[in-house]
Amino acid sequence: MSFSSFSQASDLPTWSKLQEAYDSVGKTISVKELFKADPARFEKFSRTFTNYDGSEILFDFSKNIINEDVFKLLVELAGDASIEKLRDAFFAGEKINFTEDRAVYHIALRNQSNKVMKVDGVDVTPEVNSVLAHMKEFSEEVRSGRWTGYTGKPIKSIVNIGIGGSDLGPVMVTEALKFYAKRDLSVFFVSNIDGTHIAETLKAVDPETTLFLVASKTFTTAETCTNANTAKTWFLETAKDTAHIAKHFVALSTNAEEVAKFGIDVKNMFGFESWVGGRYSVWSAIGLSVILYIGYDNFEKFLKGAEAMDKHFTEQPLESNIPVIGGLLSVWYNNFFGAQTHLVAPFDQYLHRFPAYLQQLSMESNGKSISRGNEFVKYSTGSILFGEPATNSQHSFFQLVHQGTKLIPADFILAAQSHNPIEGNLHQRMLASNFFAQAEALMVGKTEEQVKAEGNPENIVPHKVFSGNRPTTNILCQKMTPATLGALIVYYEHLTFTEGAIWNINSYDQFGVELGKVLAKSIGKELDDSIPVESHDASTNGLINKFKAWSA
Ligand code: F6P
Repeated sequence: MSFSSFSQASDLPTWSKLQEAYDSVGKTISVKELFKADPARFEKFSRTFTNYDGSEILFDFSKNIINEDVFKLLVELAGDASIEKLRDAFFAGEKINFTEDRAVYHIALRNQSNKVMKVDGVDVTPEVNSVLAHMKEFSEEVRSGRWTGYTGKPIKSIVNIGIGGSDLGPVMVTEALKFYAKRDLSVFFVSNIDGTHIAETLKAVDPETTLFLVASKTFTTAETCTNANTAKTWFLETAKDTAHIAKHFVALSTNAEEVAKFGIDVKNMFGFESWVGGRYSVWSAIGLSVILYIGYDNFEKFLKGAEAMDKHFTEQPLESNIPVIGGLLSVWYNNFFGAQTHLVAPFDQYLHRFPAYLQQLSMESNGKSISRGNEFVKYSTGSILFGEPATNSQHSFFQLVHQGTKLIPADFILAAQSHNPIEGNLHQRMLASNFFAQAEALMVGKTEEQVKAEGNPENIVPHKVFSGNRPTTNILCQKMTPATLGALIVYYEHLTFTEGAIWNINSYDQFGVELGKVLAKSIGKELDDSIPVESHDASTNGLINKFKAWSA
């Protein structure tokens, strides 16, 4: 089924208009000058999102390199690319992931208003609700201490074993919402196949009081299966009897058969469906570690916040649609300014894993080069997303953002109210002042005249000049609550959708991660002995043979 009437975005009429706009004015737009000329610029280019609980998030797009004409053209591009048609197909449960013949329906996981949501003619809402009810009941048992380990002691440590989407979402959300956590429960996440990850985790926990969540959509991922087996062996060294596994291992998966083979009672399996992509699975059973940590009521608020952003995305016209605007700006910088990267810097320590989470969301979704029309795209697609919390990142890589040769569009995120307003809120005021100052400095820069006026020696002057005009989107939340976080994640989900819809690529498969996995499997067998290998290229042979010699 075709969801777009074009193959190459660059063939769309508005694409050429945007190119002309870039060539004539776009590349010389001075945001600083536009602010001077138009006192209403902030109001024109900022949008406020209202969440289900009445809290708000301000998205200030006004420090981006756009004028009103460019903004209109970008909105026209979204219309030209029929993104509303693709969005409606997405929300109707159609198989927009056409390369895998699947619906993309994680939106049904946050259907807190209980709408009928169908895939293949079947309403999935009752099943989603039944898994949520199971997670609620289970989490209440564990959190209250009624669920005990095999020696009768309550659970103290949760270890989530998973990788990619079965790890990044839960890690990020448990960290982001730590303020709401039950502090006598510790959560650990094991993802890496490097034995150090599981070994160091097992040193910190006690088999009698540990619950392992084996999180894997497919239950065939090599890293997760190996780590889960290592955990099982470690557990049985103390517990001895395999009957005790039921109290200490649960599965979050779509694959009941493999779960049973592993030895987990399928009663202790929390399921979801193939229409939930790994990187969109934190809303599903994969979120169980989050529920255990922050409680079901908070998880429900997280889902409601997410649903509110879905509602905004499906109901708002393109020009006021916040995720659509975010996606269009990304296309503007990528395809007309030639930007390669996108920086996300949360001014929020609780969000320290947010950039890592967004890396999978954005780069696994839009790191594609074949269009929905099955042609090689004639333009650049997915950005290289990176980031670290500020103010730390200011003291590491912001130098390059301010004075490097590359244009790096950046998103800054701040919650106005701190969960920890210590020292009379001094820390928060300092944090916020940096949030405002960085965006302002990137925009206004510092001219040669200003640097000279400071009395700097002639030869030093060019080194202290800041060109400015470096774009930022500033996202100001009221408080980093579960509802706010839910909405913020969905802002990025639909921004990613918008980019993919314009670039006309399938944002929902991930064949690119397969080749390395296959090769690793066959090389794995070659590492079982000490016989030198000759079957690869000279570099790979050389490295493998040196490894064999050194690790023997
Ligand atoms: O690395 C690719 C990938 O398929 C991701 O998309 C996914 O999140 C991850 O592997 C983990 O997969 P699973 O949940 O099936 O173990």
